[in-house]
Amino acid sequence: MPHDNPAAPLLQLRDARIAYGQIQAVKGIDLELFSGELVSLIGANGAGKTTTLNAIAGTLQLSGGDLSYAGSAIAGMPAHKRLRAGIALVPEGRGIFTRLTVEENLRMGAYTRSDKAEIEADLQRVYEMLPRVKERLPQVAGTLSGGEQQMVAIGRALLSRPKLLLLDEPSMGLAPLIVEKIFEVIQTVMKQGVTVLLVEQNANLALGFSNRAYVMESGKITLSGRVAGRIYCTTRRCVRPTSAKRPDRSAPLKARSRPRAASFFSLGRFSRRCGDRAGCPAV
Ligand SMILES: Nc1ncnc2c1ncn2[C@@H]1O[C@H](COP(=O)(O)OP(=O)(O)OP(=O)(O)O)[C@@H](O)[C@H]1O
Ligand SMILES: [Mg+2]
Repeated sequence: MPHDNPAAPLLQLRDARIAYGQIQAVKGIDLELFSGELVSLIGANGAGKTTTLNAIAGTLQLSGGDLSYAGSAIAGMPAHKRLRAGIALVPEGRGIFTRLTVEENLRMGAYTRSDKAEIEADLQRVYEMLPRVKERLPQVAGTLSGGEQQMVAIGRALLSRPKLLLLDEPSMGLAPLIVEKIFEVIQTVMKQGVTVLLVEQNANLALGFSNRAYVMESGKITLSGRVAGRIYCTTRRCVRPTSAKRPDRSAPLKARSRPRAASFFSLGRFSRRCGDRAGCPAV
């Protein structure tokens, strides 16, 4: 799918609604991603983050609104075609095939591809990026640790050669050292030109790596903006967190404080209006 205009968003959701039967889980959201960005979607349990990612990947359909990718409307496109077009999802809970080996799991990521030599070359690249995964190729994936499974899930997604990687809570349930490794991998992937939409409940962790962020509450986007220094500049105001310390990017992740999303939501109470965004020290 061509995407010639870098000024146009790679992905755009407009007034997107997603329902499970009568239950409206996502109630008309606007969200866009530009090539090369890492954008976070943060919010509490049940906010609609996973639902949104699944609708972008095509495992759920929109009940209303528009979804475009690389300049084309894709709301009616099946998931396997979206994968072939470059949209790969690392699902919540990893979605590993527990009875298959690590290598079989990785190769499943390339199931929409037929370029065998290129697949082998990509496998080697994934092994370089994830040496721990390479050590365990014949192991049944269900016996891997949680962190190793997350690495395999990311490696599997990379085997589809994504342009847009959707990550659903990659840090969930993992020890800080493993989380640090996973975010190193995410940064490496970004350097290779992959655009990333990251869902996290761990707001501070996500914001530490993001260009922009959206906050979702009860199926709606309630805040959005870019992350600038230690001040989050939203579309309406620039806020400086006083209750939650934003992580120092140079410090190891394990040493960083990591309050949950609730801390970020409370920022509103501590916000200081920036009448003129240009006057904001972080802009
Ligand atoms: N299969 C389903 N059938 C009916 N309702 C569902 C289904 N999956 C999710 N929901 C509902 O949709 C809403 C959004 O759920 P979703 O899983 O997208 O939230 P989330 O933001 O990812 O939460 P979490 O942080 O807990 O993963 C919730 O109210 C949830 O109960
Ligand atoms: Mg979720």
